[in-house]
Amino acid sequence: QHLEDYKLWLKYGRIESKTVLQSYADLVSQVYFPAGNEVLENAKNELATALPNMLGKPVEFSKNLAESTLIIDRYDQLPNALQKLIKEDVDNLNDEGYVIKTVAYNDKNISLVSAKTNIGILYGTFRLLNLMQMNEDLAGVSLADSPKIDLRILNHWDNLDRSVERGYAGFSLWNWQKLPEYIDQRYIDYARANASVGINATVLTNVNANALVLTPMYLEKVEALAKVFRGYGIKVYLTARFSAPIEIGNLKTADPLNEEVQKWWSNKAKEIYARIPDFGGFLVKANSEGQPGPQNYGRNHVDGANMMATALKPFGGNVIWRAFVYSEHDDTDRAKQAYDEFLPYDGKFKDNVVVQVKNGAIDFQPREPFHPLFGALKETPIAMEFQITQEYLGFSTHLVFLPKLFIEVLEADTYQKGPGSTVAKVVDGSLYNNAISAMAGVSNIGNDLNWTGHPFAQANWYGFGRLAWNPYLSADEIAEEWLRTTYSNDKKFIEPIKEMMLTSREAVVNYMNPLGLHHIFDTGHHYGPGPWVDNLSRPDWNPVYYHKADENGIGFDRTDTGSNATEQYAPFLEKKFNDPATTPEMFLLWFHHLPWDYKLKSGNSLWDGIALKYQKGVDQVSTMNATWENAKPFLTAHEYEEVKMLLQIQLKEAKWWRNACLLYFQTFSKRPLPKGVEQPN
Ligand code: GCU
Repeated sequence: QHLEDYKLWLKYGRIESKTVLQSYADLVSQVYFPAGNEVLENAKNELATALPNMLGKPVEFSKNLAESTLIIDRYDQLPNALQKLIKEDVDNLNDEGYVIKTVAYNDKNISLVSAKTNIGILYGTFRLLNLMQMNEDLAGVSLADSPKIDLRILNHWDNLDRSVERGYAGFSLWNWQKLPEYIDQRYIDYARANASVGINATVLTNVNANALVLTPMYLEKVEALAKVFRGYGIKVYLTARFSAPIEIGNLKTADPLNEEVQKWWSNKAKEIYARIPDFGGFLVKANSEGQPGPQNYGRNHVDGANMMATALKPFGGNVIWRAFVYSEHDDTDRAKQAYDEFLPYDGKFKDNVVVQVKNGAIDFQPREPFHPLFGALKETPIAMEFQITQEYLGFSTHLVFLPKLFIEVLEADTYQKGPGSTVAKVVDGSLYNNAISAMAGVSNIGNDLNWTGHPFAQANWYGFGRLAWNPYLSADEIAEEWLRTTYSNDKKFIEPIKEMMLTSREAVVNYMNPLGLHHIFDTGHHYGPGPWVDNLSRPDWNPVYYHKADENGIGFDRTDTGSNATEQYAPFLEKKFNDPATTPEMFLLWFHHLPWDYKLKSGNSLWDGIALKYQKGVDQVSTMNATWENAKPFLTAHEYEEVKMLLQIQLKEAKWWRNACLLYFQTFSKRPLPKGVEQPN
């Protein structure tokens, strides 16, 4: 890893094209940016660092609005004549949106960045710099943009000892030992990176929570971080361990209906808000994978969530309550349990509760159908939980561009309010008019020099932020933006590398979990294949539970003849998923147990089809390697070598997956490998 990688997509390298350079020099020859508040100062500082880097000369800030070529200021501060020119655009913005526009003023064309709020100005400034990094033509620019989702939030699974659950990029950024006094420059750069893509909240701690973070000793450290992040529009949330009243409050119970417990949480909220007036609230994992929760006291999720919501309400805080629940005492198909448990609670939560649901019903697999709770919960705000860290996708070793996965889920039609009821519309709140909308991403960030381990994993952080801002963006444009700001504006570099990114997700599905296979990872760490594992303490953790391969065939029957998980989808989809002929083949073995000779649309047998997919995954990674080699002339030696080495590991491991899975499944299928599939040795 290299120092340059640290700068992420905010490299602000010197602009090479002379014409672009000249036009930008004209644009910023006099900048009017009065600032005067922390958020605005941060925006102004960003500009003051970035412009000289890009243009090769210092930036001139002017006090004279009338003579300026670029004016950056809040709408309410602008002179009337300027206001009039952008009134319509500004009227259509929400509180975090911005306008970037060329207008004719005082007989000349000037550029204006404006917004209703300071944070809008910060976002507008970052966008302007983003456009400049991409060498976009700014003469005549007219752009107005607002985020479509309210809460755009990272979930760090960081422990207080700085280990990170499912973290593959070093240790936690939060140096608890040196806080609150010592403010690492990393905190500021982290906040800049987040603000640059519109991320406006962060949960600092692991969902498998440690109650200690709610004690004064830690709260003063949290307060110090919140102070840094506030200047970039980022609110801090914490995970709240449900049994905290017992562990740090000396109470005998954490029963949510117990008055002392309720009082304890109210006081805790008061204590936190006295330190952090804009504290976001709590993220809670309760009665899931052994975590304590209301059910320990015979109460339910509504009792638990509403109790905390009541405590936070006077201060404007939210409770984000996770629906990632499944029990070893329940032999219902794991994929059905969260829906069964949460649907009856629809409409019963207080108005500051958001239910956070993983994108699929099992657990962040390379591919899953969308979680049936999306669209089914109609009166409860539902947050999307994506995993940016690649727990089941090769950690930070494999190159996988996740926006492809995220968008596939967002575009899925739930049909819950007729055709067009996409997951994106559920999540942005527009389908059911929810009061709060939210998208969460389990962070892939650590203290590695390059933040994310794999340099291309930076694109997943970037892409998550962009999609949380606008869930209707395409993977193509996100990849393009990231490549241009991170590596190069040269089309000869961008086109092939973008193609490599866009196929990388399908490649990982092919070489790990093709045709709807899932959860066949080796135990615990989830790195590498382990479809044979059948001896774990919990049957629902065993890969054999999910693929159910036997001599007759393979796959999980979730139709009406099996677990009937299909009934949790809207009737149109239920019908479609109940019939293998109408089930999209990418979900075939998710919903069906089929004979090895089942005929696929290609005409191949299922066995041959599976084998060919594994081979295809390997071939795709070979192509990725070749593509990268061809990109060498556009890269520094370090940039080239780093990704090359990683792609070589990925190729080796794609083969490992193919060989292991095919040899294992072949013990059931008892069929030869089809032509074109390399014989494992
Ligand atoms: C997965 C993951 C755990 C995590 C859990 C969760 O099961 O392996 O490490 O705690 O998800 O999302 O709560």
